[in-house]
Amino acid sequence: MHQILLAVLACGLLAFLCRPDRRRLPPGPARKVLLGNIYNVPRQPEEWKGFAALGKLYGPVSYLRVLGRDVVILNSAKAVNDLLEQRSAIYSNRPRFVMANEVAGFDWLIPFMPYGNFLRQHRRALHQHLNEAAAKTWWNTQQDLNVRFLKKLIDAPGDWWDLTHWLAGANIMRMTFGIEIAKKDDPWIDLGIKVAEVASKAGSFGAFAVDIFPLLKYIPAWFPGAKFKRDAIEWRQVHVQAKNLPFQRVVKDMAAGNAMSCIARSMLEEDTKDSSLSEEVMKNALGAIYLGGADTSLAAMRGFVFAMVLNPSAQKTAQDEIDRTLSDGTLPSHPDRPHLPYVEALYRETMRMYPIAPLTPHCVTEEDEYEGMTIPKGSTVIANTWGILHDEETYPEPETFKPERFLKQGALDPDVLDPRNPAFGYGRRVCPGRHIADAELWLFIVTMLSCYNISPAEDGNGEPIIPPSTMCSGLVSSVSKFPCNIQLRNESKRKLILAEADRLKL
Ligand code: HEM
Repeated sequence: MHQILLAVLACGLLAFLCRPDRRRLPPGPARKVLLGNIYNVPRQPEEWKGFAALGKLYGPVSYLRVLGRDVVILNSAKAVNDLLEQRSAIYSNRPRFVMANEVAGFDWLIPFMPYGNFLRQHRRALHQHLNEAAAKTWWNTQQDLNVRFLKKLIDAPGDWWDLTHWLAGANIMRMTFGIEIAKKDDPWIDLGIKVAEVASKAGSFGAFAVDIFPLLKYIPAWFPGAKFKRDAIEWRQVHVQAKNLPFQRVVKDMAAGNAMSCIARSMLEEDTKDSSLSEEVMKNALGAIYLGGADTSLAAMRGFVFAMVLNPSAQKTAQDEIDRTLSDGTLPSHPDRPHLPYVEALYRETMRMYPIAPLTPHCVTEEDEYEGMTIPKGSTVIANTWGILHDEETYPEPETFKPERFLKQGALDPDVLDPRNPAFGYGRRVCPGRHIADAELWLFIVTMLSCYNISPAEDGNGEPIIPPSTMCSGLVSSVSKFPCNIQLRNESKRKLILAEADRLKL
């Protein structure tokens, strides 16, 4: 009797799993019975190239079924604009992050939060302190830290990789918590960047089997092969520290009357006036800046240095523009930005070539129709930002580094898609830190170009070492460590940096 019942149940389950799908889903590779498209999911590293290849085969909106999950891939700026921007009311959720949220406990971190009132409270809190006007109030701080960076580089150009780590972390710690960072191996920076890297790994699409088979989350940490559980326990300890420790430090500094002006202090002061922000929202919002702001800017800075190693003529053209436009004896600063179109184009081309968030996952909360296709409710919708930024229709010869593509008769061409739009994300989940990051990165790029020459390192035979261009996978992607030569352009640049450091009393 039991055997018959089991057989009937098994047949029923099989029939359910193999039932024909009558919805007009977006095109995609043929699905295998039971397994769906598991074998069509692009493999790491650089899985965004595989997603772009799917777009070439099946069009700008394509579909995969991965172990019961609907996955829709958007490979064009138009599709992303039509869906994630124009219909953002239903396209702003996040997919289920089993490893990140349910195993490693990152559910307090804004990028992993589902869309809804709780997220909106956090985004409002961030917007108040990171909007375009608020971002300008941090220009002077960025300038000071950048001069300090240029000065440190005079003495240790070979240390540039670690010094960029310092610069990105010092900016975030100063702005968010009023904490001054002196050394490159400061524990605050190490903690922030370590946790950000781990969060990026935990949230990476398809990197953990538990994201595909959620039941695995119940296996105990001691079980053979459950390394992901043991890692998660370790990660949880550090990310809870990252959320609490700097916040507690500001509370303590305020009580002692010596807290520097910073976002945390402003939030706490506003809170005593009108207690609209709970301590939890404040900690989460500040933690998101701490963890979301440093490794992203860092990856973009390193992407720029990488681009300069490979593209000496673009570097020279930008330097010529700076020398021609700015008077000798001054370091470029934010107000110079509109007068340096080639530098702006070079910055945009760097963001296009090496987007630090190549794949951006959203999730749709209702079934939708788009150009005759059904987008099922609950689909993971992956914007292939890398694919959009390497689309030859928008950017001819996309693999060539060509800042000129953004210029027309010497000025920025408004008809060419500004890569910052895709690069900073979409709709109601667009990066809240984009104005801060944009100003910080531009300043880094223009001052590096103004003061230093960046060229390939040489091997023992004097041959240039051309670094491999593979970007590592993760929610935040970066070039891997590579050697290069960074040299002051001339003696007057040294004097200029030192004079500026003196003027700023650094
Ligand atoms: C080069 C620098 C940066 C880039 C390219 C970048 C890019 C992105 C992208 C693509 C997203 C996802 C958007 C989406 O889902 O559509 C995002 C989210 C986010 N970014 Fe940035 N970001 C950068 C720097 C920063 C900085 C400096 C901060 C903080 C000051 C920051 C804070 C955040 C936060 C909190 C989120 C989560 C937003 C949400 O899920 O609603 N980012 N960023």
